[in-house]
Amino acid sequence: MALKNYQAKLIRHRKIAHLTYELVLEETGIIRGKGEDKGPFGVPSPGQFVNLVVPGFYLRRPFSVADYADGKLVLIYKILGQGTRAMADRLEEGQALSVLSPLGNGFTLVDAKKPLLIGGGVGLPPMYYLAKALKAKGQEPRIAMGFKTADEVFYEEAFRDLGLEVQVATEDGSKGTGGFVTQILEGSYKDGDYLYCCGPMPMLEAIYKMDLAPGQYSFEERMGCGMGACMGCSHKVKNYPLGSKRICKEGPVFRTEEILW
Ligand SMILES: Cc1cc2nc3c(=O)[nH]c(=O)nc-3n(C[C@H](O)[C@H](O)[C@H](O)COP(=O)(O)OP(=O)(O)OC[C@H]3O[C@@H](n4cnc5c(N)ncnc54)[C@H](O)[C@@H]3O)c2cc1C
Ligand code: FES
Repeated sequence: MALKNYQAKLIRHRKIAHLTYELVLEETGIIRGKGEDKGPFGVPSPGQFVNLVVPGFYLRRPFSVADYADGKLVLIYKILGQGTRAMADRLEEGQALSVLSPLGNGFTLVDAKKPLLIGGGVGLPPMYYLAKALKAKGQEPRIAMGFKTADEVFYEEAFRDLGLEVQVATEDGSKGTGGFVTQILEGSYKDGDYLYCCGPMPMLEAIYKMDLAPGQYSFEERMGCGMGACMGCSHKVKNYPLGSKRICKEGPVFRTEEILW
């Protein structure tokens, strides 16, 4: 799929949880890019991400595709540093934005009897688009979502509306299971036979080390160029000719058998 720089219009910008916002973007034209045109935003696959220009900032910010349908792209972001703070303060509905899409490898959809999705914090957004794709293939994924506190929880009902069984963990115990999302995996979800995970590195490492089932892990690590040029996002892997992969280009999704911590 050819990468393109799309001109997009921000058609919705709303707060959905503590420090967390949802953006809906509609493609209005192509600024730059050649190759096959498979429709608006290049029709991303689950687990792929886009690089968004934040007005006033030189480096683009990477965000996972939370949903895509009818030419509309949904992104979810949490305020972390200066760029995401500026997004919350300055982005206005109707505004034009530039979006590089689609980026990264995305998840490979595997036939499994009990696929389990695990999302921690803003690792949750790609799980929504993935859940829709798995449901469309006739699979019945369940989801374990982990947050720090109850006021950070988002998309719980949205996943239920898709028909998923949902379990929530909060670190302070203010909602659902108390503790980390791994607590859920030690309980009724431990029979999951294939895992799709996205979240902070300590969460991914803890899940990997539980050795429950094979799966795929999406790494949301700090990036520079976001396009494979600066090597700033290299991550060591097993059995790869160069010994490491770039999260932005050969990732962000890695299979269990290639991961090195
Ligand atoms: C593949 C991928 C998908 C992501 N999807 C989401 C998502 O759906 N929702 C969400 O809220 N966040 C997501 N992130 C993290 C998000 O990109 C960062 O939170 C954001 O870039 C922080 O920008 P900032 O200017 O507020 O932070 P600052 O710390 O001020 O950023 C400074 C620079 O570091 C980069 N940077 C900082 N933290 C990260 C990070 N964790 N990952 C990548 N670059 C970072 C910024 O892009 C910027 O170039 C994703 C990251 C990756 C790599
Ligand atoms: S961020 Fe530059 S190579 Fe990945």
